[in-house]
Amino acid sequence: MSLRLSEATLEDMHEMQTVVFAAYSNYPFARLVVPEIGTESIDIIEKGIQSATGRSIRLWKASSTEYWIKIVDSETGSIVGVSRWQIYKESPFTNGAPHVEAEWYPVGSRIREYCTYLMNHRLKRQANRCNLPNIWLNMICTHPKYRRRGVAALMMQWGVTKADEIDLEMFVEASSDGTHLYRNFGFVVVEELSTPRPKGELDEEWKTLEAEYPFEATWMWRPKQGIQSKYCLK
Ligand SMILES: CC(C)(COP(=O)(O)OP(=O)(O)OC[C@H]1O[C@@H](n2cnc3c(N)ncnc32)[C@H](O)[C@@H]1OP(=O)(O)O)[C@@H](O)C(=O)NCCC(=O)NCCS
Repeated sequence: MSLRLSEATLEDMHEMQTVVFAAYSNYPFARLVVPEIGTESIDIIEKGIQSATGRSIRLWKASSTEYWIKIVDSETGSIVGVSRWQIYKESPFTNGAPHVEAEWYPVGSRIREYCTYLMNHRLKRQANRCNLPNIWLNMICTHPKYRRRGVAALMMQWGVTKADEIDLEMFVEASSDGTHLYRNFGFVVVEELSTPRPKGELDEEWKTLEAEYPFEATWMWRPKQGIQSKYCLK
């Protein structure tokens, strides 16, 4: 198998989203943020891929920091790996964390409240810890049929090479599948993250949502040039 890495174009987005949907179908948090992921119906999945394509293209066009990297299997011409990166040469959160809303859920629904809470909690953590020039790895995935053949490692090599060229540190919220990969590229574990909880007593509906859509990740950091420094996270 011969793998080719390149920067993706807007025209690749639909195929990239097809890979993303296949890669994240077992991830509860991905299903919360993109409800069509992991459904059984091919029609619903395709509808989800189309709306994710439109949304991702809009965000990408509006951004000056965003890069999409793809890996193509040269034998088939298919995209088999996808990653999305933010290269922040300036501090990205000078105005604090933006507020985001889970608009895809009905107004007033508990799931909308839950998803909005989790997304903003993550964003606030990112804004607190990463308000400095850095590379933020939004997402990296390999099509399930192409795993363990070095697809993700190729994309990570692209990312760390960029970081070292510009002399930036890197951050990622790693899934359990990703931590080993990131360690190989000089990331260290900073904190194990679990589903955040609002203050006060939680009702049964909220607890059911927590059980169905937990958020579990490992906050990882790669110092500049991959070398451990005295820099310490607050
Ligand atoms: C994580 C993921 C991107 C790895 O992709 P991949 O193309 O299979 O990874 P590679 O073949 O390049 O493997 C790179 C290294 O990671 C290791 N690795 C890959 N998947 C692993 C897993 N599930 N558990 C432990 N180690 C893993 C490989 O053994 C290899 O390490 P080695 O060189 O020391 O042997 C892929 O499993 C995936 O898409 N998962 C779902 C989405 C996800 O969790 N993305 C990360 C979000 S932060």
